[in-house]
Amino acid sequence: MSLREVLASHRVVVCVGSGGVGKTTTSASLALEAAMSGRRVLCLTIDPAKRLANSLGLQTMTSEEQRVPAALFESHGLQLQGSLSVMMLDTKRTFDDLVRRTATSPARAARILDNKLYQYISTSLAGTQEYMAMEKLHAVKNDSRHDLIVLDTPPTSNALDFLDAPERLAGLVDSPAMRWLVQAFEGAGKLRFDLVGKSAAFLMRGLSKFTGTGFLEQVAAFITDFNDLFGGFRARAEEVSRYFRGPDVAFVIVTSPAPMAIEEAIFFHDRLAQAGMRRDAFVINQVTPMLDLPTASAEALQTEASRSLPAGSDATHLLAQMRRALDDVRVRAEHDRAQAARLRHRCGGDALYVEVPALDQDVHDLGGLARVAHHLVHGPV
Ligand SMILES: Nc1ncnc2c1ncn2[C@@H]1O[C@H](COP(=O)(O)OP(=O)(O)OP(=O)(O)O)[C@@H](O)[C@H]1O
Ligand SMILES: [Mg+2]
Repeated sequence: MSLREVLASHRVVVCVGSGGVGKTTTSASLALEAAMSGRRVLCLTIDPAKRLANSLGLQTMTSEEQRVPAALFESHGLQLQGSLSVMMLDTKRTFDDLVRRTATSPARAARILDNKLYQYISTSLAGTQEYMAMEKLHAVKNDSRHDLIVLDTPPTSNALDFLDAPERLAGLVDSPAMRWLVQAFEGAGKLRFDLVGKSAAFLMRGLSKFTGTGFLEQVAAFITDFNDLFGGFRARAEEVSRYFRGPDVAFVIVTSPAPMAIEEAIFFHDRLAQAGMRRDAFVINQVTPMLDLPTASAEALQTEASRSLPAGSDATHLLAQMRRALDDVRVRAEHDRAQAARLRHRCGGDALYVEVPALDQDVHDLGGLARVAHHLVHGPV
């Protein structure tokens, strides 16, 4: 199967990988490719580089869904048969929407949204962004206006974060410590230290000195309210988790040829396998292209260089420098090939392996995305 077929035969394509390897670039390029070949595509992206967002016609970085104008495709000489919409993930807003949807009453939702701890968790807690990416997918996956959703994922220093996010968030609220705090709080409408063990009460009093009881009460109030959302949360997390294992969803693991990134890709591959999820393709991005050695003889090169350089230039020195640069690139290209081979050897199996060369400049417009897309769909190796 080629990546073109992967795009044609799935409803959702998820791009995962470690930080900075090209997830956003790959997601946008895959989305562009599918849109050009006739699908109505939504690319759900995370924090795209400002230049890329701007060049897609998304001047304002909002989290609204925005259609990339057809004229933009034409101006790059690209033929658009379907459509391309781009939406940026806004973690806080997605979380707020989730709270509104899941809370048992509007009053309770308002109380949660107002709570300081919620405001912290919804923006700063590790794993929240990952969870909200899935939550957003859940919200748009049945939207009949799109045939295909390409999901970019957040940069995770640890590739586990993405898969574990729902459980982790659920675990935080459902932990014994939190339940204990709720019990202590629910007894009297405010914290009752007599309900908690002596040493714990001592600890809490100590804490209150630093934080004020107001803070602890905020925590407890939040947890009580948050528990209300909990069933809904868990059910949704389970549904998304099930959906991810189904036939609609393809996973593309993006990596660079750097040894650390390859290690993470292998790790991610193993985790997806463990979790019963598919690994449809590996994209090895920013591979150094192998440049050929000059076929002309040293004398011929010397003559040619002397002829084209301004009088007085040191052709011999310049040629030696160029040769050293060429050798460097070839060593890097060899190294990249070896890393790609290692990945393939380790993960083997049925997945597709596609290499995208490092282009001569950053990918920040439709033209650049189209070039990457070309390598993605024509370059299975
Ligand atoms: N094949 C390529 N050739 C040249 N530049 C590239 C290529 N792929 C990506 N880039 C550039 O590398 C940078 C990082 O790419 P990108 O933002 O897609 O990575 P990411 O994995 O989404 O990063 P993050 O983990 O921070 O979200 C960007 O400036 C992008 O333009
Ligand atoms: Mg990114």
